Amino acid sequence: MAEPEARSPADQRPIEGPRVRFRPVVDADLPDIVRWLSEPEVVRFYGDPPASIADAWDDYVEPDDTSPTWRFVIEVDGRGVGEIQYSHAYPGREYEWSAGIDIFIGEGEARNRGIGTEAIRTMLAFLFEQKHVHRVTIDPEVSNRRAIRCYEKAGFRLDGVLRHNFFEHGEYVDTHFMSMLEDDWPAAKARWEAEPSPRTGGAGALESGTEP
Ligand SMILES: CC(C)(COP(=O)(O)OP(=O)(O)OC[C@H]1O[C@@H](n2cnc3c(N)ncnc32)[C@H](O)[C@@H]1OP(=O)(O)O)[C@@H](O)C(=O)NCCC(=O)NCCS
Repeated sequence: MAEPEARSPADQRPIEGPRVRFRPVVDADLPDIVRWLSEPEVVRFYGDPPASIADAWDDYVEPDDTSPTWRFVIEVDGRGVGEIQYSHAYPGREYEWSAGIDIFIGEGEARNRGIGTEAIRTMLAFLFEQKHVHRVTIDPEVSNRRAIRCYEKAGFRLDGVLRHNFFEHGEYVDTHFMSMLEDDWPAAKARWEAEPSPRTGGAGALESGTEP
């Protein structure tokens, strides 16, 4: 079986979307990452936050990943609002064709303003158009209706339900297994490009954001 691809300098380049920018997580981001992971809306779907900055460093800067993973801070107008990552669950020969995404928007006022959907679409564009993967997957909890709506808007389709896929907050949790294939991407991209301009223009606009 081939070795997983090393994190190459090319993969450390920022990724740009219309309003969002992804840059690799660095040590200086760890206080924000711990704060974001401690937000109740994130804890609800991500589980308990790291107990310390050192634990967050282990998880986000130098993780001992079983699958190769690339982690980025999501910026809007230069301000970090959350984290997005992609990984290859099947290192080896399958590595090239399938990638999984995870995301959280840690700043409460940045949620529900279209930023998550744009971040997902920007990551899809990167993975399909620059990394040339064949399939991208994501696995939101069945109860995470906002995440599911966000991923559907971006063009993901439900493949099925993974029963008891996580154990979180003392119970087993079912998740949706959603995917997009490279064949789906041109239509999903065309829908994105046909949409009216985004709901929020930048950091100033974020100040007045509210959660449902
Ligand atoms: C999930 C998450 C990434 C989505 O990003 P976001 O920027 O908040 O989402 P968007 O604004 O792009 O889209 C959210 C959509 O869900 C809808 N929505 C919000 N709450 C909802 C709910 N309870 N039920 C159904 N739909 C809901 C919004 O109205 C919007 O749809 P619309 O544009 O058709 O009106 C973000 O909210 C988040 O990080 N949440 C906490 C952590 C988390 O759940 N991470 C994902 C783990 S899989």
